[in-house]
Amino acid sequence: MTLLDAAPRTAQTSAPVLDVLAERWSPRAFDPDAVLEPGALAGVFEAARWAPSANNSQPWRFIIARRGTATFDTIANALMGFNQAWAGSAAALVVNVAIVADADGKPTPWAQYDLGQAVAHLSVQAHAEGLHVHQMGGFDRDAISAAFELEERFVPTSVMTIGKLGDAAALPDALREREIAPRQRLALDEIVLLND
Ligand SMILES: Cc1cc2nc3c(=O)[nH]c(=O)nc-3n(C[C@H](O)[C@H](O)[C@H](O)COP(=O)(O)O)c2cc1C
Repeated sequence: MTLLDAAPRTAQTSAPVLDVLAERWSPRAFDPDAVLEPGALAGVFEAARWAPSANNSQPWRFIIARRGTATFDTIANALMGFNQAWAGSAAALVVNVAIVADADGKPTPWAQYDLGQAVAHLSVQAHAEGLHVHQMGGFDRDAISAAFELEERFVPTSVMTIGKLGDAAALPDALREREIAPRQRLALDEIVLLND
């Protein structure tokens, strides 16, 4: 019996949705011993690759780092403290980069929208493959840009963990409470402004 048995993570939906969508969630407890074999993330990034984007511009790029590499430590060190407290246990850290202007400097206004959509597809694919993803906005963008010598139009927009689910009991108290808190959303009629 784990803590999560008493706190089911599956969304209580008001209408049926695909199982994988209801079951996807963002843990903070990752298995610190889980290792991603070479190729283990191929399907996950293939899902991102086939996401739709404005004019098929595909303005997304990824920096993938497995735990135990110097690249992983560089990304982990750029996380805000509240994320550093848990994210280092994940098997991989990934920087999600949006290309916000073309090579001539012309803005590509849908870039971050498109990146988010690619990450959404990726997170669903990951869940279907038995992996978990947790996206983070809490990190030092300038530190990431400097460390990876990103040109200005390559904007580090989020960082995510990818890994195997760990034991919620191993989290510090405050994080453990959040890990098992009921999952909530606004009601459907609150997010639909008009439905004629
Ligand atoms: C753009 C973005 C930024 C986020 N930033 C953080 C973060 O810095 N730290 C964190 O613990 N979770 C972060 N999250 C995770 C959200 O809190 C989480 O997705 C939300 O509470 C819904 O939970 P669920 O994914 O389990 O359904 C972020 C999610 C997104 C999409």
